[in-house]
Amino acid sequence: MAYSWFKAFHLIGVVVWFAGLFYMGRLFVYHAEASLQPEPAKSILKSQYELMEKRLYNIITTPGMYVTVVMAIGLISTEPEILKSWWLHAKLGLVLLLIGYHHYCKGIMKKLAKDECQWTGQQFRVFNEAPTVLLISIVLLAVFKNNLPLDLTTWLIAALVVLMAVGIQLYARKRRLDKEKQEQVSTETATIATSAE
Ligand code: HEM
Repeated sequence: MAYSWFKAFHLIGVVVWFAGLFYMGRLFVYHAEASLQPEPAKSILKSQYELMEKRLYNIITTPGMYVTVVMAIGLISTEPEILKSWWLHAKLGLVLLLIGYHHYCKGIMKKLAKDECQWTGQQFRVFNEAPTVLLISIVLLAVFKNNLPLDLTTWLIAALVVLMAVGIQLYARKRRLDKEKQEQVSTETATIATSAE
């Protein structure tokens, strides 16, 4: 019974942690792109994103990480035999990378707040794909355990996921370029109209 309770809250922690990580990545994109806005929009947007990032990190993302890890310790202490499985060792390696990513986000938050971060919105979009890759790998390991299939079907699914991620990046890029083109046309039209007057 205790094992099921630990597992239930382990999964709840995972959902909360990832909701926070994914939203952090999005906020970083908006925060970086706010620097391209003219004043006073730039300062207003940047201080708003700074506040949202801080609250998200402290109230959702970090507690999500702690619930996940504490419940995982509960799972292992209830069934210590699990520690002998190779899938858990592999999973722990990936979880360490995830915890590293989590703390790296804090560093980015601080740099953005001090206006010292040189990353573009596009770079943050790519950075935001890292937790997706880790999520898929960790869940596959947790579900298939020692029987993780490494056959053609698995590689096809992996290729599909990569294609989807690349597709999303390309679509976002196209939308950004279209928007920039539209803004350029409106500026040129306004300049022509002013000089014609
Ligand atoms: C400190 C890190 C972690 C440890 C030590 C850990 C350990 C465990 C253990 C022992 C189980 C029970 C396995 C079972 O009875 O089937 C489990 C289940 C699970 N974990 Fe974790 N976990 C950790 C982090 C994570 C993370 C970060 C994720 C998601 C990205 C995750 C996803 C899952 C899932 C989906 C299950 C349910 C698997 C199933 O019931 O089939 N875990 N974990």
